[in-house]
Amino acid sequence: MTDGVLEAAAGQQSKTASADMPKGTRELAADQWWRRAVIYQVYVRSFADGNGDGIGDLAGVRSKLQYLADLGVDAIWFTPWYVSPLADGGYDVADYRAIDPAFGSLGEAEQLIAEAKALGIRTIVDVVPNHVSDQHPWFQAALAAAPGSPERARFWFRPGRGKNCDEMPNAWVSNFWGTTWTRTTNPDGTPGEWYLHLFSPEQPDLNWDHPEVRAEHEAVLRFWFDRGVAGVRIDSAALLVKDPALPEIPAEPKPGEHPNTDRDDLHVIYRGWRAVADSYPDERILVGEIWLPDIERFAKYLRPDELHTAFNFDFLGRPWNAVGLRESIDTTLIAHAPVGAPPTWVLSNHDVTRPVTRYGQEDTAFAFATKRAGTPTDLDLGRRRSRAAAMLCAALPGSLYIYQGEELGLDEVQDLPAEQRQDPMYHRSGGADPGRDGCRVPLPWAGAEPPFGFSPPAASAKPWLPQPRHWAKLTVEAEQGDPGSMLSLYRHMLRIRRSEPDLACGDLRWLPSGAEVLAFARGEDFVSVTNLSPAPIELPAEASVLLASADLAGGLLPSDATAWLRPDRPQTEDRLLRFPTVGGEC
Ligand code: GLC
Ligand code: CA
Repeated sequence: MTDGVLEAAAGQQSKTASADMPKGTRELAADQWWRRAVIYQVYVRSFADGNGDGIGDLAGVRSKLQYLADLGVDAIWFTPWYVSPLADGGYDVADYRAIDPAFGSLGEAEQLIAEAKALGIRTIVDVVPNHVSDQHPWFQAALAAAPGSPERARFWFRPGRGKNCDEMPNAWVSNFWGTTWTRTTNPDGTPGEWYLHLFSPEQPDLNWDHPEVRAEHEAVLRFWFDRGVAGVRIDSAALLVKDPALPEIPAEPKPGEHPNTDRDDLHVIYRGWRAVADSYPDERILVGEIWLPDIERFAKYLRPDELHTAFNFDFLGRPWNAVGLRESIDTTLIAHAPVGAPPTWVLSNHDVTRPVTRYGQEDTAFAFATKRAGTPTDLDLGRRRSRAAAMLCAALPGSLYIYQGEELGLDEVQDLPAEQRQDPMYHRSGGADPGRDGCRVPLPWAGAEPPFGFSPPAASAKPWLPQPRHWAKLTVEAEQGDPGSMLSLYRHMLRIRRSEPDLACGDLRWLPSGAEVLAFARGEDFVSVTNLSPAPIELPAEASVLLASADLAGGLLPSDATAWLRPDRPQTEDRLLRFPTVGGEC
């Protein structure tokens, strides 16, 4: 990366300052912020430790808000910060209305929400409606009550099958490996009923046919909206509703007929949630975590009276290959268009392998580490591609998610000691699945050795997961002074994204290029080009470079790089920029 490229970006930007923005664009900025927002995901345990116990906390986040403002994000999404026994990193909630004492207090969360707002940053909280912690008062009451009691009706308790009821009620397989049923013990010590858990036994599934379950969640939404949060991320949003007969899963279920996924009644629930969100005068948003292979079914959740947006995971599951990525972009845009919802672009989160590692492994098949355990990793290659991928995603229409540490180019920590791993996926698979701890290692902020400023200097406790030594080069302190760093790239990229009217509202139009090049215009005055071919390509002379993810030696865009361009002429039908057709015309 040369300084020249970055300076070109800074210079161009001022030409398109917000005062020049068309009226419609400014209105969008005020009212429909979520349509193109940049949302930064904070995994609180691993972000910054304020009190020196080795665990990230709200004091730590508050001390870094300015960092996030400088990065240029519009909102922060906090993974669950509620009281939790941590059987699944906080996705086992014991009390939705209290902050886990390891993180701070409710008062401190309120202060944090207000301080972020003062910096122009909105807050999104995570709700986990499919299940609660087994320590939640409702589940404790259910265990203490008899079969058939109202307390048990809020969950899925069933007698077992077989002579002694010692066979599970059905054979559903857990998302966390193993079975989905655990048998309870009666007060007299005899074996009792079984209860359903799609995830770990510490996460019993709620019965969403029960009116109290529905009412309680709407009350939880109001609780947080009343505290000023701008939105809610809905965990496992397609799993809540079950077929009450709990039948086995058919080999090829018809749409809407899977016994525990994507059932039609979910839409009734989310219409109710939307009514809650819409009852607030300013915009409060609902973001669904929806993993569905059928993108048309996925888009149904985004109809105007349901969720505002949902995570689009298709893109992050694709290998680094132009044909597949182009197809992913096209299907995403086509599926979202009829419902009028903006797509989301996600390269990483707390559940998937970090992109630098993923893209550094050839033939990356999927984002979960289990699929590729043992594959050799080329981190330099992964970092180059991650830079290119970041700019590609940031140029696409819709909102953009950044998972903490992505902006530093952190890699997956693949060699964590077994005894320090906490993810139930690792433990329940007997170690066959490396699990997700490797993308949850505490962030490096400063200094030459662990804890890299994650905890205050006087802290005696070590970070809850060990940080690798090579992160010394990847601290915020090291990267912010380096114009070629990932952090500098993200800062420039987000600054340009914010100031470009075409990136907010412009349609996407593919430009003529080779099949291994992804070139498109947004609106008439902005072009993004990503070279996934093995050879450098020439950039058109009739455009200037706003920003590039790699050094443009000799004016060529190298392999595995993205450039953003300002065309000399508006991109209309007969005046489109053309890119070299290496690998066949597209
Ligand atoms: C979601 C979360 C994941 C969690 C699971 C169960 O997929 O992102 O971290 O383990 O739901 O709540
Ligand atoms: Ca702490």
